[in-house]
Amino acid sequence: MKSVGMSNKRRACLSKIRNFSIIAHIDHGKSTLADRIIELTSPAKSKQLHEKERITDVLAIEQERGITIKLQPVSFYWKGYLLNLIDTPGHVDFAYEVSRSLKASEGAILLVDVTEGIQAQTISTLLAALEQDLVIIPVLNKVDIGKHLVDERLDQLEKVLGFKKEEVILASGKTGLGVDKILDAVVERVPSPSGEKVAKKFFGENISRDFEIREDGSFSALIFDSFYDQYKGVVAVVRVVSGSVKTGKRLRLLNTQVEFSPTEIGVFKPEPIAVDTLTAGMVGYIATGIKQVKQVTIGDTVADVDLSSLKIVGYQRPNPKVFASIYPENKDDFLELKESLEKLALNDASLSISQDYSPLLGQGFKVGFLGMLHLEITKERLKREYGLDTVVTMPSVKYKVKLKNGQIVDVTGAYQMPEPFNIAEVLEPVVRGEIIVPDTYMSAVYQLVKDSRGEVYEANTLYFSSVKNMNYLTLKVRVPYAELIRGFFGNLKAVSHGYASFAYSSEEYRPVGVVKVDILVNKEVIPSLSFIEVPQNARKRALGILKILKQNLEREIVPIPLQAAIGAKIIARETVPAYRKNVTAKLYGGDITRKMKLWNNQKKKKKLRAANVKVRIPSKVYLKIIRQEGEVGR
Ligand code: GTP
Repeated sequence: MKSVGMSNKRRACLSKIRNFSIIAHIDHGKSTLADRIIELTSPAKSKQLHEKERITDVLAIEQERGITIKLQPVSFYWKGYLLNLIDTPGHVDFAYEVSRSLKASEGAILLVDVTEGIQAQTISTLLAALEQDLVIIPVLNKVDIGKHLVDERLDQLEKVLGFKKEEVILASGKTGLGVDKILDAVVERVPSPSGEKVAKKFFGENISRDFEIREDGSFSALIFDSFYDQYKGVVAVVRVVSGSVKTGKRLRLLNTQVEFSPTEIGVFKPEPIAVDTLTAGMVGYIATGIKQVKQVTIGDTVADVDLSSLKIVGYQRPNPKVFASIYPENKDDFLELKESLEKLALNDASLSISQDYSPLLGQGFKVGFLGMLHLEITKERLKREYGLDTVVTMPSVKYKVKLKNGQIVDVTGAYQMPEPFNIAEVLEPVVRGEIIVPDTYMSAVYQLVKDSRGEVYEANTLYFSSVKNMNYLTLKVRVPYAELIRGFFGNLKAVSHGYASFAYSSEEYRPVGVVKVDILVNKEVIPSLSFIEVPQNARKRALGILKILKQNLEREIVPIPLQAAIGAKIIARETVPAYRKNVTAKLYGGDITRKMKLWNNQKKKKKLRAANVKVRIPSKVYLKIIRQEGEVGR
């Protein structure tokens, strides 16, 4: 590829930019370190820090749970360099978000909690970063509480991951120790964004001739995130690949071919701050003024209008793993739900949405999620941000069902399951993953994997921890995804006393025998609660749901039977007791025949009511069921 016409000024500008991410196993301290970095580089922010504990976790739900879900880019200066930090989520559901931020970076800080050492996600995120050709800066974090473990961990980083001891930085996000050294290392070790490298990353090896024009100053930028602002329309979060942009410049989205002129451009510090120009290598935002959220897609490229022939490689859309249909609790809210979901999807590229209709449930949306936490958060966001109460069908993985007529259909919800007599074979997704665990807990983990219908197919020693006097092993496992989304993470933590960690990557399909279980409330099937399960787990799972219904449904004047059934066979039952109304309370003493009359009347009324009771399952009960289903392990 020819690299032409880059002015000295721009070259100088690019050489002063560093784009980096922080990667780590969950809870190893990414967000705390990111906050400390902002505090150190933007002292004015420290006041706000006190008001709002975490500045990198902006979603309210993230703050409540103490987990990071959405990546938030932050720009700041360090010793004359412009540093763009892209925080990454730690929960395994969000591996895709991690890969997005890695594509926008040239370097990554690999954070390892010194008290915990290398964990499953340390390895999986490191591999993802190396795949993107990033420079890795290894950091041992939390040394304020783990000084005595430093030597041993340095040994591990060298032996297991191949880092030299002298390149590892010791730090504490809590006390601020080593944060300046980390920033120095970012400046020294991470390369500045180079035209050719960045372009190849985004546009593939076969960059069209157009790229030569772009190096001359034509603007192009990759959209790696976006959000909706009531006044500014869709705001695209971009990594500028080439050239520069100012407000008012005519731009075009290459994928959707929509033209617009930015109404505002800016950077995140971490709150959005308007700037005059965004230039190559920078990370910032472009307010498009576009109101139709579908026109701006993540992974698209925004460029000068004359660059419309440019081909994009961009990002791949993630594969949703868990599916559920969402319906408005109030049918009149259908359009509102549609709009809200579209806006959420804009902010969350990993949500996949399609319109769905079921004769039993009516008009709704089939939504694909990255995992159970993602599903739960989406339902909560619909409630908090858009005030919408929703009915969510039981989450399901994607089954491939071979019919007797040779056809193969995808089934992502119990209501789609063909009649048993039409089915030749059902296949379910199974993931391959790695568990890192001390040998003391090995047999407990083997048992858990077995109980989860999975298997360990390889076991190797990873390292020996002299402090804990334990051998850490890696176990390669296959586990059906349907089991993984229901409490596997939590159970793994429980059986290993918190020592085991898990990461997974690929998936395959294999045959499984499943049944469809219906939940009946007052003898009526509630279609949104039907689920697909292997026969041996059907009763236990059904009982869990019936218990939640029993505890949370409003009592009626008559007892409400709750049942679970496979076809016509009832496999579990519970009852919501009736509330008692003392109809004779107002009678003092008096004639027993009068009391009898009142009791008889009550009996008659009850009979009438029993036939007419329509039980409503409130939105929050669905949320409780989803929570229990996932028991989202961390
Ligand atoms: P996610 O946001 O969920 O990905 O987690 P994270 O990796 O960002 O971890 P986070 O910053 O939320 O820190 C996890 C826990 O470790 C919190 O309770 C922090 O207070 C604590 N922590 C983080 N850094 C340090 C440190 O340097 N020293 C000590 N002692 N505790 C720390």
